[in-house]
Amino acid sequence: MSAGFLPFLLSGMLMCGVLLHMSDHVDKPSRKPNFIVILADDIGWGDLDTNQPEAKANNTPCLNLMAEQGLRFTDFHSPASTCSPSRAAVLTGRYGLRNGVTHNFAVSSVAGLPLSEVTLPQLLQRDGYYTAMIGKWHLGHIGPYGPTNRGFNYYLGIPYSNDMGCTDVPGYNLPQCPPCDSSGPKVISVHGGCYSKVGLPLIENDSIVEQPLDLWTLTEQYKSAATRIIQTARYNRGQPYLLYVALAHMHVPLAPPLPPDAPSTAFHQESSKVYADSLQEMDSLVGALKSISDDTDRDNTLIWFTGDNGPWEQKCQYAGSVGPFTGTWQTSRGGGSAKRTTWEGGHRVPTVAYWPGMIPANTTSSALLSGMDIFPTLLSLAGVPPPSDRHYDGIDATNILLHGEQSGREFLFHPNSGAAGKFGDLQTVRMGKHKAFYITGTSESCGGATGRQQVHNPPLIFDLQRDRAEETPLKVGTPEYQAVVEQITRRREELLWDIATDESVSTADYSIDESLAPCCDPRRTVCRCDTLG
Ligand SMILES: *[C@@H]1O[C@H](CO)[C@@H](O)[C@H](O)[C@H]1NC(C)=O
Ligand SMILES: *[C@@H]1O[C@H](CO)[C@@H](O)[C@H](O)[C@H]1NC(C)=O
Repeated sequence: MSAGFLPFLLSGMLMCGVLLHMSDHVDKPSRKPNFIVILADDIGWGDLDTNQPEAKANNTPCLNLMAEQGLRFTDFHSPASTCSPSRAAVLTGRYGLRNGVTHNFAVSSVAGLPLSEVTLPQLLQRDGYYTAMIGKWHLGHIGPYGPTNRGFNYYLGIPYSNDMGCTDVPGYNLPQCPPCDSSGPKVISVHGGCYSKVGLPLIENDSIVEQPLDLWTLTEQYKSAATRIIQTARYNRGQPYLLYVALAHMHVPLAPPLPPDAPSTAFHQESSKVYADSLQEMDSLVGALKSISDDTDRDNTLIWFTGDNGPWEQKCQYAGSVGPFTGTWQTSRGGGSAKRTTWEGGHRVPTVAYWPGMIPANTTSSALLSGMDIFPTLLSLAGVPPPSDRHYDGIDATNILLHGEQSGREFLFHPNSGAAGKFGDLQTVRMGKHKAFYITGTSESCGGATGRQQVHNPPLIFDLQRDRAEETPLKVGTPEYQAVVEQITRRREELLWDIATDESVSTADYSIDESLAPCCDPRRTVCRCDTLG
């Protein structure tokens, strides 16, 4: 630890409330553990201060402290590089090629995560857990596809991304989107633009409670709902619980805290500060959840923070940092290398796990892991066997979490999330320190440039230990290359065969019906309603 780090930690401890409370140490017999899974949206690996201390940023004091009291993963990956597939894989422990979710659902999607899929909350709920979700679902919101029909007892949040609908006071975005009243019932542009056919709805259980919702008070709403859930679960129900918090942060539009006297309709900040301010707000929300949990059932609660995919580079100053994972091979040929791509910036995400007394404090793990591993790990900690009628892709990481085991996954496949080839295709493979691309592809960079998709036969192979920027592939034909390519090719064929012969593969219905866009009261402009009072 550098000398400059200590004051930084102390201020973090004060801000995050650590010195301010002593938790009543509840005795811990064989009670089942509580789980709080926090999924940030579009966060960059480099956004977590402790992932790159040399940058000397001080945006995430609460997460830094959580890492200091828990375990920080440096080689943890989202299961996909875009929203719906990543979330589907977290909740099912399966690749999109099995669970059917290979790309994003739309505002007027008729379906969602296939009903044949079994979710983590369903399994825990059946086992006696109280299950609640706060935040962005994005796995289908019509009828049986909504969160309260997929295993959650309670839900409060946005059914999809926070840019998929207008609001009265828009947050920061690029392009800047107009407010609901001036945009009217039309679609201005779709990809990366402003969808304003209906206002952004806030849903509680299966009803719209506010439309358009107020982006600027959402953090407070999430915080008070989470507080209520954690406290009620502990004191009133005495049940173990799963709380899944899928944050609106750091996805655009960003709506960082307003200065105390700011008129609420005015844009108040220099655009260069907006991302950092939002990141700090996210961090203090995470700190608040940790504090509430520490005050209620500290020694029996695992908090697992991670991200759904890398930063949305196209949003320029409103996008996060990939740190050293710049995907230079790609960016030097044009285009972006973060969200939607299988370059490291697309899926390597900041990840911290915290469980006082169970997870050794102040530890770092470079084990190769994926968000898909959350499913089998939580089930294993809860003592719930997953149904044996299907194949899973996640691994049980209990020994890595609790016992310092270092070896993670032998292989990890990164699905195409729109940058190259067919959606969901497993064209990028990680084995140890090596990573092979059978197809490369790119997303839009800041400024909108894209490179082209390119097939590689033989594959491009990078050594991530020597070359985190993925700049210079190994020379084809060297003994190192040969050894790696043979193993990777064989394992990839085995996996594809396993999926091809898996009888439990689901297919998602991606069809659209414009009349199904969530709408509180179609007679009023962009479906205005407010039942929150
Ligand atoms: C955490 O680990 C770092 C690096 O090993 C060490 O310098 C630091 O003192 C540790 N902090 C605490 C609170 O133990
Ligand atoms: C949501 O469901 C919970 C649990 O069933 C219930 O207590 C609450 O009143 C419901 N809220 C709404 C707005 O229906």
